Amino acid sequence: MRQIRGLTVLSLLLISVMVAPAGWAGAAKSKLEIFSWWTAGGEAEGLAGMFTVYKKLYPNVDIVNATVAGGAGTNAKAVLATRLTGGDPPDSFQVHAGLEVQKYDPAKYLEPLDGLFTSAGWDKVFPSGLLTLLRYQGHYWSVPVNIHRANVMWYSKKVFTDNKLTPPKTFDEWFKVADALKAKGIVPFVLGDKEGWEAGHAFEAVLIGTLGADGYRGLWTGKTQWTDAKVTQALNTFKRMLTYTNSDHAALTWDGAGQYLIDNKGAMQIMGDWQNGWFQSKNYSGYGWASPPGNAGVFDALSDSFSLPKGAKDRENAMNWLKVAGSKAGQEAFNPKKGSICARTDCTQSLFNAYLQSAAQDWKSNALVPSVIHGAAAIESWATKYKDALALFVTSGDVAKTQADLQQACKGAGVCK
Ligand code: GAL
Repeated sequence: MRQIRGLTVLSLLLISVMVAPAGWAGAAKSKLEIFSWWTAGGEAEGLAGMFTVYKKLYPNVDIVNATVAGGAGTNAKAVLATRLTGGDPPDSFQVHAGLEVQKYDPAKYLEPLDGLFTSAGWDKVFPSGLLTLLRYQGHYWSVPVNIHRANVMWYSKKVFTDNKLTPPKTFDEWFKVADALKAKGIVPFVLGDKEGWEAGHAFEAVLIGTLGADGYRGLWTGKTQWTDAKVTQALNTFKRMLTYTNSDHAALTWDGAGQYLIDNKGAMQIMGDWQNGWFQSKNYSGYGWASPPGNAGVFDALSDSFSLPKGAKDRENAMNWLKVAGSKAGQEAFNPKKGSICARTDCTQSLFNAYLQSAAQDWKSNALVPSVIHGAAAIESWATKYKDALALFVTSGDVAKTQADLQQACKGAGVCK
């Protein structure tokens, strides 16, 4: 009887293995490797939100979250390029909408996604300006998940009210406010430039504030010369602004520097609106936002997107990932945490905090200009030279040399003569 019982148990086990749903008792689970640089608070949560949407639809797929830390992709981009050329691509990877894609030699290494854009109806739900930015050599190479704004001046509301100050609108006002704060022992201009891109990021706002939207745009098309007196003026302004930073700026990343605002030890920080996602992740609500000096009415834009490399090991899972990334559910799970607005125009606004609701309005009404540090304005080799020139400028303060380097970088890209 015991034996019979034993046999019965064994056969039950065998039967249950045979009829078990996929994913149970060793049935082949498949994989999806997603490559990004989203490791900081807010960004990591946003990505996890999109993973949750994917997992609900495809529970048998194991997602490998392949992140390489470093803001603006400082480290990730190089790792990715090596993987692509070495024939070991992830299933899908983060890339900025715009000329950044040129770095990855799309005709050779990526699959065009035109068919997906048509079948998903994305030409109707993504704004036309974004669609234009995404097309490179006549094709779509990536699916946009968001729109970020680079030119935001975050500030500590408490520091401003305690000192009876209002956020400055012009550079003259900015220096007056900065002097008043400095006299009180508060860091006026919070900076964390450990990774080398952050000074170039802040300088975009100074260029916009000095040259205006058209003048700034022209820097990337050859209409405005880098030798222009206004570029000299912008460099001089930035040099002066840099005398108001925290002394440990070279040791801090963008998010680490944000702690100065949380602690009310620092007043203003120019950073993209992922900072808003990071503040939320820290349960900090004492922050205000304003345009950096001279930036009112101008939206310095960038967009994160995901590509499909040729030879992706889990191509079908990757295609499904791209569908989630472009979907309303995917974008609504991602963006409120990430601190960005949807790339789609049909997201439910009540899901977003007050800052993001204001950004969504601005996106519709402001003059849009492309960010260079975040892949929209220029090919990667030019963007890198711009970034490096500004990183060096923080320590050298050499206006003439930096301006000459910037002009040379434009020449090297074949845009300036
Ligand atoms: C940008 C990216 C953002 C955010 C930021 C800081 O390049 O577009 O999504 O990740 O870097 O890492």
